[in-house]
Amino acid sequence: MHLESYELNRLDTMEKKHSNKFYVTTPIYYGTAKPHLGSLYSTLLADVAARWNKLYGHATFFLTGTDEHGQKVAQAAEKAGQLPKAFVDKLVPDYMNMWHKYEFEYNKFIRTTDPEHIHAVQEWVKTVQKKGDIYKSVYSGWYCTPCETYVTETEAGPTDKAPNCSSCNRETNYVSEESYFFKLSAYQDRLLEFYKNNPNFMVPKERLNEVIRFVESGLKDLSISRTTISWGVPFPGDEKHIVYVWADALTNYISAVGYGQKGHENEFNFWWPADLQILGKDIVRFHAVYWLAFLMAADLKLPKKLLVHGWIKVNQQKMSKSLGNVVDPEVLYDNYGADCVRYYLTRSMAITHDSEFSIKDLEERITSDLANDLGNLLNRMLTLAFKNNLAEVPKHTVWNEAGVDLRNACWDAIEEYEQYMNDCQYHMALARLWKYINQVNSYFHANEPWKLAKENRAEFTEIISAVCHSLYTIGFLLWPIMPKKMNELMQNLGKTVQVDSHNIIDLLKDNRWDHIFHLQITQTLFEKPEPAKKEEVMQKEKTEESAVQNYITIDQLMPIELRVGTIEDCQDLPKSDKLYQLRVNFGDFGVRQILAGVRQSFSPEQLIGKQAVFVYNLQPRKMLGTESQGMMLIAKDSDGLLRLVAPQERVANGTRLS
Ligand code: MSP
Repeated sequence: MHLESYELNRLDTMEKKHSNKFYVTTPIYYGTAKPHLGSLYSTLLADVAARWNKLYGHATFFLTGTDEHGQKVAQAAEKAGQLPKAFVDKLVPDYMNMWHKYEFEYNKFIRTTDPEHIHAVQEWVKTVQKKGDIYKSVYSGWYCTPCETYVTETEAGPTDKAPNCSSCNRETNYVSEESYFFKLSAYQDRLLEFYKNNPNFMVPKERLNEVIRFVESGLKDLSISRTTISWGVPFPGDEKHIVYVWADALTNYISAVGYGQKGHENEFNFWWPADLQILGKDIVRFHAVYWLAFLMAADLKLPKKLLVHGWIKVNQQKMSKSLGNVVDPEVLYDNYGADCVRYYLTRSMAITHDSEFSIKDLEERITSDLANDLGNLLNRMLTLAFKNNLAEVPKHTVWNEAGVDLRNACWDAIEEYEQYMNDCQYHMALARLWKYINQVNSYFHANEPWKLAKENRAEFTEIISAVCHSLYTIGFLLWPIMPKKMNELMQNLGKTVQVDSHNIIDLLKDNRWDHIFHLQITQTLFEKPEPAKKEEVMQKEKTEESAVQNYITIDQLMPIELRVGTIEDCQDLPKSDKLYQLRVNFGDFGVRQILAGVRQSFSPEQLIGKQAVFVYNLQPRKMLGTESQGMMLIAKDSDGLLRLVAPQERVANGTRLS
């Protein structure tokens, strides 16, 4: 379900039908590069929060999108030789497709180049200008383009040299320009007052202290326009200026739900303020200081909660293009499927801290938590029930002690899981639920239903029913994390996950364990990753098309001597079914004996007389007792098809590749 906007009449029915509303936002992603695991993570958290609220029957609105203006995007477009709009137009489908693959049920994908958004930004500027909180002056200071932000005087220190940015540590540029200023300083006290009265405004709470310290240290007025670039929202009434990209971007959270647009007042009043705004720790100041002040200045309500997540690190470092450790969510999707990756990220990343991503951990989670603990439980129960003709599990009324204990444990698990989910401590919620899954496994083992099937049918049925009720609860609770897989699990129990205006969480808590289940066997819920697959992904990590790119420097590349040579002779290497023994002529660089493992793909006739590229300075080594004095390069595609690598036209033997 992807609703682009909520119509007014639909809103009316929503207000009546749903007891509550839930509006969740993600940061909008810079239109400079394709989505990576970090952007996926922010969006996943929002999807989990939205789905969790759907289980309560709340009307939910989940907003995501792209941040398309500003110098950073303009520079990326220029580098690609394109106009900024054409450049971002190409990137947006990458985000949308990826979000669909990962089952993110967003309601709106906002782009800051949308005309409604541009209009809303200008409305905000006009409103605040009327209030007297925007004035014109001259700005001089150090500017960080990657972060689109000025370095404060305190951060820069007393220096004439360009200071590095306090956030990304890259070099800054000195700029001096006429600018419109927002009277941020006027909001210092109101902000501090707000933090004091809302100690739970930010998750994790500790981050709020950092914000308080920053605000207490003194707020300077904020430059909110630029004249040095043109790619942005024209400043109303003075089109020499464009609106500063952060003032433009932050406004998306209100423009998406109708701010500043005639006829959308009800929509705006219904959804705003946001219930949860998700962001990474690098952009806290923009959200917890500037954004709140911008809202105060326009007399708008403030968001209810900010969830600040840590960074996903690879090899102990934040993912970044320049470090070459960017994980491609597409590769993960292709190899493990959306739900397993969703589970791993919510379970293993401690939301409020930085966490290390690794394929090994991902595979271990899939194997132990999903395939063993949960998948096997379902499997064993289904197989046993079918083997003993119990596809229809009848309603059970009187439970013995073990059944009552398990039911109580189930209710406890729901209560505690609910608490963690509402506090956005998703990794804790999952750890708690797994404790229960293990209890169900122990119950199943301890009661040995396979021994009772014939001799005590009533008890056998009770055990199957208890496991079904447990899985039914688990299925709902895990649906926000793994929607597709939990729909499948429910199908195995003859149930469906249907979210509407009913409060499913309350229904689960009140559930007396009196359901009837119509069991169905379908395909295995979770497959363990095959060792081959692991190898494949690891291998991919090492290559160019990989999830993690391992760049080498030019200095590492230069010593590799690649030369063109002609294959003059080709013989089978005795005792080997793969290797050929080649005689290769490198002209002035001599003739060499080189072994190549291409026997299965080429006959000697296909090689003799051909030119190919060789690593000429590889240390000689012996294979099956014969020395190889170099290595032939081969192109191998994903189907295993081999092709020689050679210049398009003949060149002198010994020619070096540069
Ligand atoms: N465009 C701004 C946000 C404007 S919101 C009004 C921006 N964009 S971003 O694309 O650079 O980053 C968006 C989000 O992705 C941030 O919350 C950031 O923390 C998150 N991530 C980027 N890399 C990350 C990791 N390696 N790990 C987790 N999330 C990180 O900032």
